[in-house]
Amino acid sequence: MPNLHSVEPALLPELLKRMPKAELHIHIEGSLEPELIFALARRNEVAIPYASVEELRRAYAFTDLQSFLDIYYAGASVLLHEQDFFDMAWAYLQRAAHDNVARAEIFFDPQTHTARGVTMETVVTGLHRACAAAATQLGVDAELILCFLRHLSEEDAFATLEQALPHRDKFIGVGLDSSEVGHPPEKFARVFARCRELGLHLVAHAGEEGPPAYVWSALDVLQVERVDHGVQSVQDPALMQRLAEERVPLTVCPLSNLKLCVFDRLESHNLPQLLEAGLCATVNSDDPAYFGGYLNDNFLQVFAATGMRAEHAYQLARNSFEAAFIDEAARTKYIGQLDKTFASFS
Ligand code: HPA
Ligand code: ZN
Repeated sequence: MPNLHSVEPALLPELLKRMPKAELHIHIEGSLEPELIFALARRNEVAIPYASVEELRRAYAFTDLQSFLDIYYAGASVLLHEQDFFDMAWAYLQRAAHDNVARAEIFFDPQTHTARGVTMETVVTGLHRACAAAATQLGVDAELILCFLRHLSEEDAFATLEQALPHRDKFIGVGLDSSEVGHPPEKFARVFARCRELGLHLVAHAGEEGPPAYVWSALDVLQVERVDHGVQSVQDPALMQRLAEERVPLTVCPLSNLKLCVFDRLESHNLPQLLEAGLCATVNSDDPAYFGGYLNDNFLQVFAATGMRAEHAYQLARNSFEAAFIDEAARTKYIGQLDKTFASFS
């Protein structure tokens, strides 16, 4: 491990930008910038209830998760053709390359599209084509994770899984997102058990707005390998001890938490507390087009607000590779690159 105490504090922002990292919690539909929404609306002749990019951006004033989801699903309505899904993912992957994201595990919400008559094949093929191009043209290793919408039924999730299975080679796991409170993980116990039998990786959003009980059941009932958000876990000391002992990764999203009023100020974000307790916390952007920043913006802003230092930066980047669904050779390679970057700043 490099000597982290010898990093000049003034160099911290540059170090945060330059260090290699994995992004493990990014909804591709949440990377759709207003400019691209308008361009696709024109290209596809889809009507949207906003007169301009500026008017749409002004509507991004959220009070909670649901107020965001309503506008996020509306934005996705301009996506119709395979090329649209490619263009959206390619734009994100270029931003990721710029932020020195070495590995991206990208969520997508097929039910948002299949409910509008877009086929699963259109969605998966377009997104996967962008991921494949990113490996050769951008040096970003990207894979897909299919998310079930938890406000819909488990039966609907099973039907979605059936539609996705012909494309099993194009996604590595499943997740659970959308409206959390009132839709506990238990609702999806059977479909997650089936996905486990299929050898898919398992993750779920839990403890974003919902209680620690949802994190417990994501672990014990769904048997997830990572928890998305999970910031409410600090309310439950026994849960914190379990997360630390088992090194269960939490994919934390600071700017998302700020914009959805999970924390009233970034200065009071509990990321330093999660690291201090020995959890495998990571930093992620969630829905960067809606929350005011991509991955490096999340790092820069949460570090500036909480006073975290180079040793925290190292731990967070290292955690992201520990938590990634990659083989040991890739993990060793990325951590070697991380060590080299830190050594060059010492
Ligand atoms: N929480 C739940 N569902 C979501 C989110 C989120 O932060 N972003 C996109 N879908
Ligand atoms: Zn999310």
